[in-house]
Amino acid sequence: MGILEEAMIHLDQGTRVAEPNHSPFVTVSYAQSLDGSIAQRPGHPLNISSRDSLILTHRLRAIHEAILVGIGSVLADDPQLTVRHATGRNPQPVILDSRLRFPSYAKLLNGSRPVPWIVTSDQADRSREQTLKGLGAEIIRLPADEDGRINIRTLMRCLAQKGIRSLMVEGGSQVITSFILARAVNQFVVCIAPFFVGGTPIIDVTAGLKPSQYPRLVNIYHEKVGSDLILRADTNWSEP
Ligand SMILES: NC(=O)c1ccc[n+]([C@@H]2O[C@H](COP(=O)([O-])OP(=O)(O)OC[C@H]3O[C@@H](n4cnc5c(N)ncnc54)[C@H](OP(=O)(O)O)[C@@H]3O)[C@@H](O)[C@H]2O)c1
Repeated sequence: MGILEEAMIHLDQGTRVAEPNHSPFVTVSYAQSLDGSIAQRPGHPLNISSRDSLILTHRLRAIHEAILVGIGSVLADDPQLTVRHATGRNPQPVILDSRLRFPSYAKLLNGSRPVPWIVTSDQADRSREQTLKGLGAEIIRLPADEDGRINIRTLMRCLAQKGIRSLMVEGGSQVITSFILARAVNQFVVCIAPFFVGGTPIIDVTAGLKPSQYPRLVNIYHEKVGSDLILRADTNWSEP
């Protein structure tokens, strides 16, 4: 069985046992270098995965109902978040953007994919909201945490109410760290490319997570895809 089928089985099991309005099943997926870098330096993109791994990522996107990134990734990479290197439906794009920094030129606003849901805070600028709505985006306002950012648990309830049962979180480091802190990750699918970068680490160290706040990984499955190693694992959040 391949890595995609493994990921799909765990996703199917996770969504089947879920009650209506239950939090979506969350897959965190990203590409890192051997030293755990996801970018060369903050805000700057870097192609890490091989073409075969990229195709796998797009197939993984196609089995999720929604895909989420932070505004930092939109500003750095201007991603499309589509399945254009695979077949299937484009997942619903969801962007965490508490201050509505979302740029009008973003590729996410041009095309046939679902219009992006931009999740923002109560305090975000109303006129910017109107501009982005005029460009086709849906704006979702949620209460912010004390640091002004979107509360991940509130977000998950909101997505469940909107009918989303599976969510792929692609980055960047701040968003992935927030999902870990909220214990909101069910499985990881990580592409490890065979080179060093010495760049932005996958974990946002400024969040100050303690070792006990990370999950243990279980049911680990790995596969070589092109020149990369792909690792899939479930999370176990119970104390060791
Ligand atoms: N290798 C890969 O697989 C991969 C994938 C994706 C991205 N990247 C790279 O990652 C880098 C971007 O990562 P990043 O960490 O700078 O940005 P990010 O995680 O994409 O976005 C972080 C921003 O999202 C907003 N946000 C709102 N609610 C949040 C919450 N609860 N938790 C965290 N953030 C929240 C914050 O901005 P506001 O306060 O303004 O809301 C925050 O600054 C880029 O260089 C990109 O190329 C790599």
